[in-house]
Amino acid sequence: MMLKRDMTTKVVHITGDKESDARIYEEAAKILKGGGLVAFPTETVYGLGADAFDEEACKKIYGAKGRPSDNPLIVHIADPHIPENLVSEVPEKAKKLMDSFWPGPLTIILKKRPGVPDAVTGGLDTVAVRCPGHPVAAELLRTSGLCIAAPSANISGRPSPTRGEHVVRDLAGRVDMIIIDDTVDVGLESTITDLSTDVPVILRPGVITPDQIEKCIGRTELDSALVRMTRTGSGDKKEEQDISWTDTAPKAPGMKYRHYAPEGELFVVRGEPGPVLAFVEDAAEEARRKGKKCAVLCRPEHEDIYRADVVFSYGKDAVSAAAGLFDTLRKCDGEGCDVIFAEGLEEEGVGLAVMNRLIKAAGHNIIDV
Ligand code: TXA
Ligand code: MG
Repeated sequence: MMLKRDMTTKVVHITGDKESDARIYEEAAKILKGGGLVAFPTETVYGLGADAFDEEACKKIYGAKGRPSDNPLIVHIADPHIPENLVSEVPEKAKKLMDSFWPGPLTIILKKRPGVPDAVTGGLDTVAVRCPGHPVAAELLRTSGLCIAAPSANISGRPSPTRGEHVVRDLAGRVDMIIIDDTVDVGLESTITDLSTDVPVILRPGVITPDQIEKCIGRTELDSALVRMTRTGSGDKKEEQDISWTDTAPKAPGMKYRHYAPEGELFVVRGEPGPVLAFVEDAAEEARRKGKKCAVLCRPEHEDIYRADVVFSYGKDAVSAAAGLFDTLRKCDGEGCDVIFAEGLEEEGVGLAVMNRLIKAAGHNIIDV
């Protein structure tokens, strides 16, 4: 799908100079209050914001991203207290999570107030709320005094943007303003926890892990759609996990779409490091023999072994893998890679979130060795 680029987009950089930064926040706030769209950094990924109580403005977000209209948006708030016009009640467990993790990369789903536009909730009776910790997001929320509805600031289906250049590439000509400050450090979208049900359910894993959530509020389930895509869920009988699994369709509407996809064909190869290395070495060799440009994403100890066209290391742990993942997937496109092999990581802790995004990016092209 070719998306039109017929708007003038103002691209601005946060520099640390108080006066010029203040002018940026003022101007962005004015645009948002006038029903416009502003992309801005958060600690997880860049978001594309509109006034959450302006239905027409929120509808524009779907147009700008080419996003399906049944995929609801996250409402961002300035302080770790949820405004009364957003949700009907804040249960005890939600308060505990807010106290522990806000401001930060956690989104909670609660029963909405009737005044929250359908364009935000996709017609659901719940709303997703997050208080971001990034100083630019926080300042924009404060200056505007608004609740800002914001999905990730990418064209729908593409990897989420973690650098200003990603946002410019996807959305220049399609939004009013892009605020750049490349200090987005988490690199994966927030953990989403649904607290609108009796037993809380994690709908999307992130750097705040299922263990951390359970420690805070007790028994929590993992959405069954997430379980099915893990090794445990795909029949590999590991030890019973602490978290219990639900058995319903994906509850976050956005989780059912193909996402994060690079242009080349991506394969995730799971298993013990040794066999994975052997498989990917052969597969990369084979791809190159066929004249395909090949990329490998791997553990740092394998970085010097592979002879692919491009080799990207995950860095020292799952947290660094998370921070670099979307940028790496976009770099594979930049290099014109036809085929990409990604070593699987342990599907636990932050690794669960990294694997969730990788498997979705691979369109479920998974090889278990
Ligand atoms: O870190 C983040 O969460 C980033 C930054 C910008 O805050 N935002 C983000 O938004 O990732 P987005 O739109 O790309 O993902 C929002 C997810 C989608 O999967 C959507 O279906 C789900 O949240 N969601 C939103 N409202 C929901 C609701 N009421 N019930 C269930 N899922 C919901
Ligand atoms: Mg997104």
